[in-house]
Amino acid sequence: MEKSPETRRYKNSFLNWIEYRLPIISYMEKEYGDYPMPKNCNYFWSFGALASILLVVLIVSGIFLAMHYTPHTDMAFDSVERIMRDVNYGWLLRYMHSNGAAFFFIIVYIHILRGMYYGSYKYPRELNWILGVFIYLLMMATSFLGYVLPWGQMSYWGATVITNLFSAIPVIGEGLKTWILGDYTLGNATLNRFFALHYVLPFVIFGVVGLHIAAVHVHGSNNPTGIDIKSKDDSVKFFPYMLVKDTLATCVLGVVIAVVIFFGPNLMAEVDNYIPADPLVTPSHIVANWYLAPFYAILRAIPDKLGGVTLMFGAILILFVLPWLDTSKTKSCNYRPVYKWFMMLFFVNFFILGYVGMKPAEGIYLLIARLGLIYYFGFLLVLTPLIGKIETPKSLPASISDFFMNKGNNIKESKSETELH
Ligand code: HEM
Repeated sequence: MEKSPETRRYKNSFLNWIEYRLPIISYMEKEYGDYPMPKNCNYFWSFGALASILLVVLIVSGIFLAMHYTPHTDMAFDSVERIMRDVNYGWLLRYMHSNGAAFFFIIVYIHILRGMYYGSYKYPRELNWILGVFIYLLMMATSFLGYVLPWGQMSYWGATVITNLFSAIPVIGEGLKTWILGDYTLGNATLNRFFALHYVLPFVIFGVVGLHIAAVHVHGSNNPTGIDIKSKDDSVKFFPYMLVKDTLATCVLGVVIAVVIFFGPNLMAEVDNYIPADPLVTPSHIVANWYLAPFYAILRAIPDKLGGVTLMFGAILILFVLPWLDTSKTKSCNYRPVYKWFMMLFFVNFFILGYVGMKPAEGIYLLIARLGLIYYFGFLLVLTPLIGKIETPKSLPASISDFFMNKGNNIKESKSETELH
């Protein structure tokens, strides 16, 4: 088959007709058929595909939920109850959406940690990483907005706490908060705009994911060795190999989510959100969504409101510059004997921060949150640049197929990634 779209000929004349006018078929063939995947990629490389599928599930289930939801403070809670009881398969739609969101975060967290462990944020994939952090920010905003919609106690008080944070900003804070709320307090205007934004943001995420995936395909995927594809032997075609692998991963995820939906649909939900919002009754402690909890822990670890807000946003924004904070040229932590352990500790620390973020901000929990906060920033701002300079990485395999044949043992000496660039 010839390469040029004009001369390209498929057996099917309809495909030819389209291809001649819009070469989308050859584009798909190139990007999702022939696309070379490093042949040593493990199942962690399926998490991007899993996240993409969950995004579609969330958008579709969300559109159907929106057909029955009423964005009014007097009716929102009841409309959600009606979806659960009276709408055909409404309970399934809602549980798919709420548990789908929780799993979306689990999958994306694993995807991010994979990227950090294997150094996928480094040259030449920095922009790909930046787009990823941008998606993560959008996801957090979208999930916060969605959590407000059922207008339960936790929706109301969670939104009150979060929107109050903006008032900590000097000079413009109070005005900004009122502008966000659309009123002086949380009310109907707020619920309406939160619904509108919750509807539209997933489509923005969808668009950014498109750019994110396109950016991955420019230089190709990273892999557990962190070295690039050097010859045809180092890679396999995306179709059928990666597609089969991703399909299997999707089936496993589908089973896990189905078990949660059918046997424990409220496992990850907050019980207080089944009580209608009451502005006169404050819940004993206001909890963040578990997937936002590490940042909530950072916020509450600082006694000063402005300080807490700055560090909370700083903890996310600092990820944008991670590619430049890491001074090591070796990508994969498999070849970084010292940094690897600090990286693992960073992951554990993140989970601990999440745990204490769901507990009252007092006593031992507060102390742990403060220590966790110190390690979070200490790791990114001090250890990452420093270890990169002083650590001696293990020697890398000569090529991916060399690693593959030797299953990582008996690796040969080769040029380090520094020399390769
Ligand atoms: C809606 C959320 C997301 C979707 C649907 C998504 C999708 C994908 C897909 C399909 C890939 C290629 C396959 C793979 O390597 O797994 C990928 C790669 C990548 N993603 Fe994401 N992603 C998302 C969020 C993020 C976030 C939040 C980050 C980082 C903050 C991130 C960082 C990366 C990196 C660094 C790669 C390159 C991995 C490599 O080549 O080793 N992604 N993403």
